[in-house]
Amino acid sequence: MCGIVGYIGHRDAFPIIIKGLQRLEYRGYDSAGIALFDGSQINLVKTKGKVEDLRTKANSISQEGTIGIGHTRWATHGVPNDVNSHPHYSNSGDLVIIHNGIIENYESIKKELTKRGYNFTSDTDTEVLVNLIEEVKKTEDVKLGQAVQIALNQVVGAYAIAVFDRKKPDEIVVAKLGSPLAIGIGEEEFFIASDASPFIEFTNNAVYLEDEEMAIVRLGKEIKLRKIKNDAVAYPRILELQMNLEEIEKGGYDHFMLKEIYEQPRAIKDTYRGRLLADQGIIRMAGIDQNLEKFMNANRIIIVACGTSWHAGLVAEYIFEDLARIPVEVEYASEFRYRNPVITEKDVLIAISQSGETADTLAAIKLAKEKGAFVFGVCNVVGSSIARESDAGAYTHAGPEIGVASTKAFTTQITVLTLLALKLAKEKGTFSETKFHEFLTELETIPSKVERALEANPLIEIISDVYKDSTNCLYLGRGYNFPVALEGALKLKEISYIHAEGYPAAEMKHGPIALIDEHMPVFVIATKKGHYEKVVSNIQEIKSRKGKIIAIVTEGDEQVKELADHVIEVPETLESLSPLLTTIPLQLLSYHIAVMRGCNVDQPRNLAKSVTVE
Ligand code: AGP
Repeated sequence: MCGIVGYIGHRDAFPIIIKGLQRLEYRGYDSAGIALFDGSQINLVKTKGKVEDLRTKANSISQEGTIGIGHTRWATHGVPNDVNSHPHYSNSGDLVIIHNGIIENYESIKKELTKRGYNFTSDTDTEVLVNLIEEVKKTEDVKLGQAVQIALNQVVGAYAIAVFDRKKPDEIVVAKLGSPLAIGIGEEEFFIASDASPFIEFTNNAVYLEDEEMAIVRLGKEIKLRKIKNDAVAYPRILELQMNLEEIEKGGYDHFMLKEIYEQPRAIKDTYRGRLLADQGIIRMAGIDQNLEKFMNANRIIIVACGTSWHAGLVAEYIFEDLARIPVEVEYASEFRYRNPVITEKDVLIAISQSGETADTLAAIKLAKEKGAFVFGVCNVVGSSIARESDAGAYTHAGPEIGVASTKAFTTQITVLTLLALKLAKEKGTFSETKFHEFLTELETIPSKVERALEANPLIEIISDVYKDSTNCLYLGRGYNFPVALEGALKLKEISYIHAEGYPAAEMKHGPIALIDEHMPVFVIATKKGHYEKVVSNIQEIKSRKGKIIAIVTEGDEQVKELADHVIEVPETLESLSPLLTTIPLQLLSYHIAVMRGCNVDQPRNLAKSVTVE
């Protein structure tokens, strides 16, 4: 939920850390801070507000130093204010720490440390942790690395920390459990961060710490990796990352969200690249190929996810049951993990997560693994916690998704899950060779059809202006497009703050139709394939009650055009692939309405990109 950045090397640490924090603001942005060692003392400044506010406030301190740590926060313990911001000093002023996560037993530790004469200036769990490390260092008379290892065996919770000692300023100690931490390896320099975006312009060699691993990052030395539990030596796995900086920057768009909406043709193509070999009639996915019998012999597939990823899971339910005839149930991870579900080793659990760090989804995976289920992860972030916790998986190759509102993650998740369902349908023989080939060929046309759907953007902007002041909206869809209606409503809610609800179109007569009047915009997905006639009659019911109708239709549709106030066309495709197209206009609608309302599209209020706390 927070972003951490550290640097030790031959460059000035200040600009690297500040720019790195700006790249991580999507992880949380209610306060920020930085600590630098200038050769004789630690200079620390922190503030409520954004990284830009920190940069301004940092004019009050020396910005010298080639070792430093920085933090951008999304508050979990202690309200967002200056004193609760990170970094935090230990009582002696020798140690300074940054932390992403939650120490669940910090109160009992704080009580004990208070008894031993420690005092605390903040309400945070992090300040307790740095003083626990100090206490261990003093009483056990050990170096910082050892003190961190011993101290962390006394805490319960999740953390990604970086801590250094002004008396030994040639090293930074880092540790990880439940929150992400990557180490960028440069020439005579090391970078520490929650993900690779702060250091990708300097190096694409990185080590992602595993859970319960720590490292001593010392200049001129190899990274020393240790297991926190028993101090055993661990061996770094150096990844060569493919992400480059321009993927991070906005690339000429006003917002990351718009850039990411327009990246979807490329992202979908990258996601099936190397996996979909239509001309050979093959789908190649190592994570499936090596575990095919798990899927083929599964009693059922349980899909766990949150938010938009949960909507992708709902689309997958329709695909798996319709094409591969495998029973599927889709669960909110936050509900699944607490309801004592029946899970057996004959179950396959698919966890869907863009960030790969969502705490509830991670917890649901751990629960399923304890009960013997096989876990398959669908994540977008290489080396993320969920990716590494899963038994196998398949990455979406959407590239970094910076906008808090998920867009290309949604369509690439559906792409991966469609490939998976198709592969299983072929293996199970529920698909004829001809139908299989037709499907693969159609799937290959989707990127260009998404391009065509994006061409409606100018019309969508005009329609957005008509409805930007609405207070409530309804989204309706049937079949494969019911989850898209839910997703469209979530998009509008989370970035424009307009209340919106998604419903199965047929549900209107069971209550929601009472809401319809001339002030209620109703976005209806009415594409040709999939209960078209029934959706048309739903539109007529709404029209007869003066509801405003904005319909997503198949190119060339004349019938709905006669009924609706506005129509937005998408190219024709198979019903099971239509969510990849019908979601595009709904993403653009929510984007334009939010911009017109002056909302912070990339960083909506109260939200963070990665929900790593419960
Ligand atoms: C999507 O627009 C939201 N920002 C949010 O619902 C998100 O999908 C959810 O928090 C799950 O995140 P994940 O995919 O990273 O697990």
